[in-house]
Amino acid sequence: MRIGIPREPDPDQPLVSATPDTVRKLVKLGFEVDVERGAGARAAYTDAAYESAGARLTGEDVWSADIVTCLDTPPAEYRSRMRPGATLIARMAPRRNAELIDQLAAADLTALAMDAVPRISRAQSMDVLSSMANIAGYRAVIEAAANFGRLFTGQVTAAGKVDPATVYVIGAGVAGLAAIGTANSMGAVVKATDLRPEVAEQVESMGAEFVAIPAAAEKSEDGYAKEMTADQAAAAAKLYAEQSAAADIVITTANIPGRTSPVLLTAADVAAMKPGSVIVDMAAANGGNCELTVPGEVTVTEGGVTIIGYTDLAGRLPGQASQLYGQNVVNLFKLITPHKDGRAILDLGDEIVRQITLTASTRGPEVTAGEEELDDAAQGAVAAYAAANGDGASGAGAPVATTLFPAPPVKVSAAPRPAPAADAAGAGDGAADEASESKPHRWWAWLGGLLGVALVLASPAEVSADYLVLMLAVVVGFYVITAVTHSLHTPLMSETNAVSGIILVGAVLQVGSANLAVSVLAFIAIVIASINIFGGFTVTHRMLAMFRQEA
Ligand code: NAI
Repeated sequence: MRIGIPREPDPDQPLVSATPDTVRKLVKLGFEVDVERGAGARAAYTDAAYESAGARLTGEDVWSADIVTCLDTPPAEYRSRMRPGATLIARMAPRRNAELIDQLAAADLTALAMDAVPRISRAQSMDVLSSMANIAGYRAVIEAAANFGRLFTGQVTAAGKVDPATVYVIGAGVAGLAAIGTANSMGAVVKATDLRPEVAEQVESMGAEFVAIPAAAEKSEDGYAKEMTADQAAAAAKLYAEQSAAADIVITTANIPGRTSPVLLTAADVAAMKPGSVIVDMAAANGGNCELTVPGEVTVTEGGVTIIGYTDLAGRLPGQASQLYGQNVVNLFKLITPHKDGRAILDLGDEIVRQITLTASTRGPEVTAGEEELDDAAQGAVAAYAAANGDGASGAGAPVATTLFPAPPVKVSAAPRPAPAADAAGAGDGAADEASESKPHRWWAWLGGLLGVALVLASPAEVSADYLVLMLAVVVGFYVITAVTHSLHTPLMSETNAVSGIILVGAVLQVGSANLAVSVLAFIAIVIASINIFGGFTVTHRMLAMFRQEA
C-alpha cells in the first residue's frame, strides 16, 4: 500500500505527519511512501532528507495514495481528492464532529482518528494527545518565562538575594506534569492541584508540592477526570483564587474530554493577582480555564497580569512535535500491519483499532474480527467487508463506508484496585478476613520452623551452625521477597540469579557424592538453579528488547 504525506492544508500548521526518520520506519513495514514537496519545510525537514529516507517526492497527487496521514482532518476540498476506499489517518475530534463522520462515510473513506486512541497502557505509544500535550506543557513554561519580567530561579549574588518564581499548575495531566517538570528544572518553586487526588504522587515525583482540593474528590475510572460536585467546585474555586494570588505564574490545563473546559479563574481572581504575573491558559482552544483568556492571543489586564491563550503551543516546537506525532503514526501502523508487508488490516477485535476506527470502507484495508466478541456496528463492518470481498462477491463494494463511531467504551481504572471482597462470614471485618487469609501461610511457616529446629538439633555438631544460618536465611529471604512489590520482581531476579550461581557450583561439586541422597538433592538443585538462571537471562533479554531502538 502507498502512504501519502501531504503538506498540511492549514497554512498555520507547521507540523508534518511524518519525518524522514518515521518515513524510514514506514518503509521498513513494507509501505511505499509519497511525500508532497515542501511538506516538512516548516518543521525544518528537507525534501532531500525525505528522499534519502526512501520516500518518493510528489506534488498534489499525494492525496491519491491508498492511505493519507495528516495532523488534522483536511477540509472537504482536499478530502475530495482522495479516492473512494482510501484511508485517512488524522486527528478528527469525533465527539465534536458528528457531521464530519457522516461525510467521511458518504465519501466511502476509512477514517482512523489519532485523537481517539484510548488512554490505556498498550496504546500509550500511539497517543498523540499525550505527545502533543507533553511538548505543549514544556512550551507553556517557556512562554511564561519569556513574558515574566523576572528570573525563574532564585540566586544569591554579591548584589543581593533574588527569590525564585512561584509557579502554580492547575490540572496535573500530561501537559501539567510536563509544565511542572520544566518549571522545576528552571529553578522555580512549583505547586500543583488536580481534581484527582491519585496524581499527588506523580506531582511530587516531578518536584512540585501537591495542593489538594479540600473536599472529597471523585475517583477516575478511565484515566480522565470527572466533573466536580458543587461542594468540590466551591472549595476548588477558593483554593485556585488563593494560590493564584500568591503565585507569579499560573498554568491552567484543566480539561474534561468531550466538554468545554471549566472556568477556574474568574476576572476577580485575576484582578487579585500580582502585577507582572503571567497566566498560561492551555485550555484556551476549548473555551479556556480563565474567564479573560482570548484564544490565540496574549493580553495584559489593567492590573498588569499577562494572559497567554496560545492554542498552538506544540506547533511552536515543530521539529520534535512532528517527530513524536510521526512516531505515534508509525506505532499505529505497526499495530495494523501484523505481517510487516505493507498491507494494513483493521482487526476490530483489538480495542485500540476499534476505538479509532470511525468509518470502514469495504474497498479499504481488510476488516477482520480477530478473536474478540464484537459489538453490532463492528460485526456489521466485518460482514460488509466479507460480502464485498469474499468469494463470489461482485467486487463493487458498498457505496458508503460503515460508521463505527461511537465505539463501546473502554473501561480502565486509574484508581487503586479495591480490596478483595470479604467472604460471607467475615463481611465487614477486614481484620478477620486478613487473619483467615494468612492462616495457611502461618501453618506452613510453623511446620517449616519446627522441621528446621529438629534438623539443627539432630544434625552433627560440625554442621548444625550451618543449618541454623540456612534456616535464618530462609526466614529473612521469605520476608524480604514477599515484601517486594510485584513489579520489582524482575530486578530482584538478577540478585537471585547470583545466588543460583553459587548453588549451581555447590551442587555440581556434590552431585558425584557416594551418598545417593546427597547426589539426588544435588541433581535437583542443579536443575532448579539452572532453570532460574537461564529463565532469568531469557526474561532480561526480552525486557531489553522492549527498549532497544530499531536501526
Ligand atoms: P489531561 O486530561 O491529561 O489532563 C487534564 C487534567 O486536568 C487532568 O489531570 C484532570 O484531572 C485535571 N482537571 C480537570 N478538571 C479540573 C479542575 N476543575 N481542577 C483541577 N484539575 C482538573 O489533559 P492534557 O493532555 O494534559 O491536556 C491539558 C489541556 O491542554 C487540554 O485542554 C488540552 O486540550 C490542552 N492542550 C493545549 C495545547 C495548546 O497549544 N494550548 C496543546 C496540547 C494540549
